[in-house]
Amino acid sequence: MTSQDAAASAKPAPKDPWELPDVSGLVVGVLGGTGDQGRGLAYRLARGGQQVIIGSRAAERAETAAAELGLGIRGLDNAGCARESDIVIVAVPWDGHAKTLTALRTELAGKLVVDCVNPLGFDKQGAYALVPEEGSAAQQAAALLPDSRVTAAFHHLSAVLLQDPEVTEIPTDVMVLGEDRADCETVQALAQRIPGMRGVFAGRLRNAHQVESLVANLISVNRRYKAHAGVRLTDI
Ligand SMILES: NC(=O)c1ccc[n+]([C@@H]2O[C@H](COP(=O)([O-])OP(=O)(O)OC[C@H]3O[C@@H](n4cnc5c(N)ncnc54)[C@H](OP(=O)(O)O)[C@@H]3O)[C@@H](O)[C@H]2O)c1
Repeated sequence: MTSQDAAASAKPAPKDPWELPDVSGLVVGVLGGTGDQGRGLAYRLARGGQQVIIGSRAAERAETAAAELGLGIRGLDNAGCARESDIVIVAVPWDGHAKTLTALRTELAGKLVVDCVNPLGFDKQGAYALVPEEGSAAQQAAALLPDSRVTAAFHHLSAVLLQDPEVTEIPTDVMVLGEDRADCETVQALAQRIPGMRGVFAGRLRNAHQVESLVANLISVNRRYKAHAGVRLTDI
């Protein structure tokens, strides 16, 4: 064996990018979980076996939504939801994003935060992407939550499909962005708790803007084809 061969054989084999952690024991909270997207994600993840807590600005609204969805889902106010969860999905409208996260900075410290907010405007011509001062909703979250681990994912899912109990599989890719590879893998694994979904690492948060913005295009697709379009990445 040459010294080069020896050096190569000493290197650990590259990790299989599809090898993802077991997330089945993690509690997932959904801020704004009383809305369409939050309810849909809560329902799908709970149906996949995850422990889920719906958060709301009003605990009673969260309790009502949780009772309607069943599957052992609990409802708390947003602060309680953040405190009791390991992973916290942010599913509030862009308008309330900064205010919600600023108020929950303490509760979200040390948590894995998953932002799925798409900053969009709507006019007579349809949906269009807004450009947040920080670059994207996810970057705004990272700036407001210095003690949390912020990722971005679940932007392109249809809340209609998520909430439809007749739909057994949602065959789509979930683009996951973040600064820390292990955190992204946790979120990828979470996406894969939903039958049909594949979690795909899609870069760092500085590239979240175009992922969030793509929803404006999906809305145009959905209007033109009367569909609930998602994304599929090819050749991986
Ligand atoms: N709908 C979709 O298909 C979809 C898909 C992918 C991503 N998203 C993203 O997910 C987020 C939620 O979408 P959605 O359609 O579920 O929105 P939504 O129904 O308008 O709002 C979700 C929940 O957020 C809370 N909320 C409303 N205004 C708020 C404010 N100003 N501050 C804090 N909380 C507020 C409300 O819950 P409480 O009143 O109970 O607090 C509401 O039920 C959006 O950012 C959207 O871009 C949506």
